[in-house]
Amino acid sequence: MSSIDYSEKIPNNVNLNEDKTLQRALEQWQPAFVGWWQEVGPERSRAFDVYLRTATSVDPQGWAHFDYVKMPDYRWGIFLNPAEADRKIHFGDHLGEPAWQSVPGEHRANLRRIIVTQGDTEPASVEQQRHLGLTAPSLYDMRNLFQVNVEEGRHLWAMVYLLHRYFGRDGREEAEALLERRSGDADNPRILGAFNEKTPDWLSFFMFTYFTDRDGKYQLCALAESSFDPLARTTKFMLTEEAHHMFVGESGISRVVQRTCDAMNQLKTDDPGKLRAAGVIDLPTLQRYLNFHFSVTIDLFGADQSSNAATFYSAGLKGRFEEGKRTDDHRLHGSSYKVLDVSGGKLVEKEVPMLNALNEVLRDDYIKDSMAGVARWNRVIEKAGIPFRLQVPHKAFNRQIGTLAGVRVAPDGHVVSEAEWKANVDQWLPSAADRAFVTSLMGQVVEPGKFANWIAPPVIGINRQPVDFEYVRFN
Ligand SMILES: [Fe+2]
Ligand SMILES: [Fe+2]
Repeated sequence: MSSIDYSEKIPNNVNLNEDKTLQRALEQWQPAFVGWWQEVGPERSRAFDVYLRTATSVDPQGWAHFDYVKMPDYRWGIFLNPAEADRKIHFGDHLGEPAWQSVPGEHRANLRRIIVTQGDTEPASVEQQRHLGLTAPSLYDMRNLFQVNVEEGRHLWAMVYLLHRYFGRDGREEAEALLERRSGDADNPRILGAFNEKTPDWLSFFMFTYFTDRDGKYQLCALAESSFDPLARTTKFMLTEEAHHMFVGESGISRVVQRTCDAMNQLKTDDPGKLRAAGVIDLPTLQRYLNFHFSVTIDLFGADQSSNAATFYSAGLKGRFEEGKRTDDHRLHGSSYKVLDVSGGKLVEKEVPMLNALNEVLRDDYIKDSMAGVARWNRVIEKAGIPFRLQVPHKAFNRQIGTLAGVRVAPDGHVVSEAEWKANVDQWLPSAADRAFVTSLMGQVVEPGKFANWIAPPVIGINRQPVDFEYVRFN
């Protein structure tokens, strides 16, 4: 069960050959997927041989195989974690009942919506990142970008399998629509805001994989608790791939910080102008990028109070992060949680029913986790002896969704007037000049072992290969 059949047209561990109708339907979707990849996947990369990891088994040990692959030939497929015998529903109003192996009629519309919303983010990020190969700061980084891209493609497959297998005709229509929407398209955009933003440069890419892929982790963790067992098993396997995406982001930013600190010490300056002239990204600019990506990403958790969130939980569709490790009653009727509100020009906390605040619960878990990596970046700065610290902004800063949308809040959490916002926004969020400067640093570096000036090399290579390994071969 845990190994994957690679002899099939669509590699899988779900015995696809025993369900001919489903197999045919997916084989029809496959060319459309490849067409989508060719059209809006990584630009001008078709002929490259990329040193990629391919999943060959879903066992925690040794599931990955590394080799050179041309990306259009990557073996996208359908891999579910093994089933847990007699799995029971462990939260919500059905607690204790057997987990569902098919979709209960009354939850069908909500489950489909959850799967489509998750599925939509996967191709969206590939579209957002499609130009980045052209400015990769090294072969090592280019390879990591492409690894993330092919795996997001596989995550789309994971969601499309569920749509085809469990939702019949409307599932198939949704699967087609997932290939039709386009990130940032005015007429047919991706579903969620952050997935319509541009990822124009590598600093944005590293921030995105650190912050936004981590949103993916929290959403997937919540879905891995689902009573709908195929969804739980699918998302559990996706999480093993997600870890690498967040590593790319965290280590990427860490290397940028390292390079900047080295330059600051060499030149004995913290003057952004001098550092920019030396071709590195000053720490205040890093902070502004961080502020942007953090605030845009925490909006993805949705409104702070949401009756949908309550329904999804009580019905057993979507749990909390690490639901199984929590010691409360897993039903949450009568529990409360603190959310933010604005009163008399100030942010105040107010208690609301926890069931309605589950988006906020997940957002707060996410924030704690994101802060840990920022602390690790700060250790790099501290080690260099530089008295600057990166910080995650207040969670009310720059929000577009929920109670805090439309309230102007500084990164330190105090409410400001529109005039104050306008006067300071270029200190708080990347300005057009910041973005132009970062763009000016971007340029492709293709010699093995060489790195762009604005980023330090990694400490170790991929799969124990040396840092100067030829991770991408151009043909
Ligand atoms: Fe993903
Ligand atoms: Fe990801």
